[in-house]
Amino acid sequence: MTVRVGVIGTGRIGSDHIRRLTGTIPGAEVVAVSDVDTERAELVAGEIGATAIPGGTDLIADDRVDAVVVTSIGPTHAEYVLAAIDSGKYVFCEKPLATTAQDCLRIVRAEREFGSRLVQVGFMRRYDAGYRAMKRVIDAGEIGTPLIMHCVHRNASVPDSYHSAMAVQDTAVHELDTIRWLLGTEIARTQVHVPRSTANRFPHLRDPQLMRFETEDGVHIDLEVFVNCQYGYDIQCETVGELGTVRLPDPPDVAVRKAGQLRTGVLQDWTTRFVDAFDRELREWIESVHAGRLCGPSAWDGYAVAVSSDATVRALESGEIVEVRLTEKPELYQG
Ligand SMILES: NC(=O)c1ccc[n+]([C@@H]2O[C@H](COP(=O)([O-])OP(=O)(O)OC[C@H]3O[C@@H](n4cnc5c(N)ncnc54)[C@H](O)[C@@H]3O)[C@@H](O)[C@H]2O)c1
Repeated sequence: MTVRVGVIGTGRIGSDHIRRLTGTIPGAEVVAVSDVDTERAELVAGEIGATAIPGGTDLIADDRVDAVVVTSIGPTHAEYVLAAIDSGKYVFCEKPLATTAQDCLRIVRAEREFGSRLVQVGFMRRYDAGYRAMKRVIDAGEIGTPLIMHCVHRNASVPDSYHSAMAVQDTAVHELDTIRWLLGTEIARTQVHVPRSTANRFPHLRDPQLMRFETEDGVHIDLEVFVNCQYGYDIQCETVGELGTVRLPDPPDVAVRKAGQLRTGVLQDWTTRFVDAFDRELREWIESVHAGRLCGPSAWDGYAVAVSSDATVRALESGEIVEVRLTEKPELYQG
């Protein structure tokens, strides 16, 4: 059986996912696409032999569509995910699940009322080979109880439209999810320190930022977000446990020894760094849709990250330690 997928949003990542679902992932076919830019949707549909459907909610309701991928802009996500739950269809939604924690909670409640999981959120780091290897080491108890985690998230540069809160909302959200997932616990407190800003970018942007998180069971995490570091895209993570440490590997590259120097490359952006993770993410999503049982990042994960992100933005603005307060986790998301 083939899962007939409808994709809403044919921009950068939407086109990328369409290419994956069409070219590299078995058991899936993109049968319909939709975008407010109808010309673009028709162009993309024509290239893959799909149907362009003008409205996203019409695409969701269409009988030819078994499962939905939402890759439109963030503020549209909640409406489409809720419509998919209403239709009883599986939906893969790129991050963020919704732009407010309140809307994420509406989705959690709608899914709970439906009675089983339909929603997966695009936190693709969980599908990166290095992060997965780190989780296996932690879960096997190899480094003992985790105590501290050090994380770094650097981009070469960002556009002028990027503002200080986006260091949390757009950038650190990936770590907010991976920390919770790697450690199997929720973030309880958050704080942001702002050192002297780099002179390489516009004056209103506070860059870099040093974020501090504390989990419910007392692990302390530091995260450096530096989005104009100039030299490349650099993701680092090290977990320190009672018996040892585990560190994310650097992406492989040749080491050139020449003229008294040893040189290796640094990747330039996230598309190359996480290309395999994106492939694996969608492949496993299709497999779980076939199996009728989702196991990737849930609506609860989308909600918990939204609450942590809001708290961290408040911490950035106030300079204070801010508590992260979640509602009770529904049974559907336990285990
Ligand atoms: N997981 C990741 O690492 C990752 C990476 C990139 C983007 N994203 C997320 O994916 C989403 C899309 O990002 P992008 O970079 O592809 O953006 P983009 O601007 O390139 O594409 C967004 C598309 O949505 C369309 N759109 C806008 N309003 C719409 C509506 N009401 N209905 C249907 N389509 C609509 C736009 O016309 C555009 O084609 C964002 O939420 C972003 O945060 C996630």
